[in-house]
Amino acid sequence: MLGLLLLQVLASCLWLGHSEVVKSFASCPQFFYAGIPPNIVLNPKKPAWICQHFRNSYHYATLYDRDRRIPVYSAYKYQPGPGKRPQTWLAEPQLINPTYSKDMDTETSISNRYKITPQQIGQSQAITQDYKNLQGLDRGHLSPSGHRSGNNSKMATFTLTNIVPQNSTLNKGQWKDYENQTMAQRTQGCTTTYVIRGAVPGNTYISNNRVNVPSHIWSAACCQTNTTMRTWAVIAENSRNQVQNLTRAQLEATLTQLYGRGQVSLFHSACPR
Ligand SMILES: *[C@@H]1O[C@H](CO)[C@@H](O)[C@H](O)[C@H]1NC(C)=O
Ligand SMILES: *[C@@H]1O[C@H](CO)[C@@H](O)[C@H](O)[C@H]1NC(C)=O
Ligand SMILES: *[C@@H]1O[C@H](CO)[C@@H](O)[C@H](O)[C@H]1NC(C)=O
Ligand SMILES: *[C@@H]1O[C@H](CO)[C@@H](O)[C@H](O)[C@H]1NC(C)=O
Ligand SMILES: *[C@@H]1O[C@H](CO)[C@@H](O)[C@H](O)[C@H]1NC(C)=O
Repeated sequence: MLGLLLLQVLASCLWLGHSEVVKSFASCPQFFYAGIPPNIVLNPKKPAWICQHFRNSYHYATLYDRDRRIPVYSAYKYQPGPGKRPQTWLAEPQLINPTYSKDMDTETSISNRYKITPQQIGQSQAITQDYKNLQGLDRGHLSPSGHRSGNNSKMATFTLTNIVPQNSTLNKGQWKDYENQTMAQRTQGCTTTYVIRGAVPGNTYISNNRVNVPSHIWSAACCQTNTTMRTWAVIAENSRNQVQNLTRAQLEATLTQLYGRGQVSLFHSACPR
């Protein structure tokens, strides 16, 4: 019995020692205001904390749901700028095995490097095959490439751990207007804007029950100006082309109700409700 316990402790130490993807966002607190991520109410049964790493730097952070194979949220700083919009999709090696590379990579390259099949890659994450034959749904980004600057940082948003099945009409309609125009308007005067964008799990799945289709998509921002802090938020049902404006407090109350697991808090208390 004691032996077993020791073994477990040892195993968890080894596990902790290795990886960017395990217990917390300790390697990338810079994507959250004051280093404080949302409280644990949003955490799924089998979470993975991913500090999204690509070509020598961290670009944003994602809390991932290994069971539903979609992100719970991605957190990033709003920094729109030039760069090439990529065409290829990437996956997260450390979700397959914590000893694998912390750099996101293509499925082909992961398969070749570790001699594994696409099925093994897809055990606890979505793969490109899952997003084939979508009907009325797009690959919706939580951290969008349009809010990032530079080829590498835009490329880093094209990983399926940052993607949810999103209603095409919404993605190309009001959500795009929010992402593009409303964000540009609202961030005027902000020196730094911290964004958290998430998806509430829904009741339907694509790809043979592998990948959840969220019921709602939401976003909240905390803007730091030279003199003050302000916040705003939006939510959209993932079956309608309508984005609703909310305060931070209203979004937190809505999420508290939708998740039903306790009071949600998205930011440090310095970001006003
Ligand atoms: C980004 O990609 C474009 C198009 O491929 C290329 O012309 C440009 O040089 C790249 N920029 C950098 C900084 O690598
Ligand atoms: C908004 O959309 C327009 C037209 O598609 C584009 O030229 C512009 O770069 C976009 N701006 C942002 C901040 O994404
Ligand atoms: C904020 O402060 C910096 C440094 O003092 C200054 O350069 C900048 O213009 C200020 N921005 C605004 C919007 O006042
Ligand atoms: C997407 O939204 C549109 C517009 O509200 C709706 O007509 C359509 O049924 C939705 N599609 C899916 C797959 O939810
Ligand atoms: C939400 O707020 C933005 C920015 O203030 C505004 O442009 C937009 O029309 C509002 N949307 C709704 C549905 O009220």
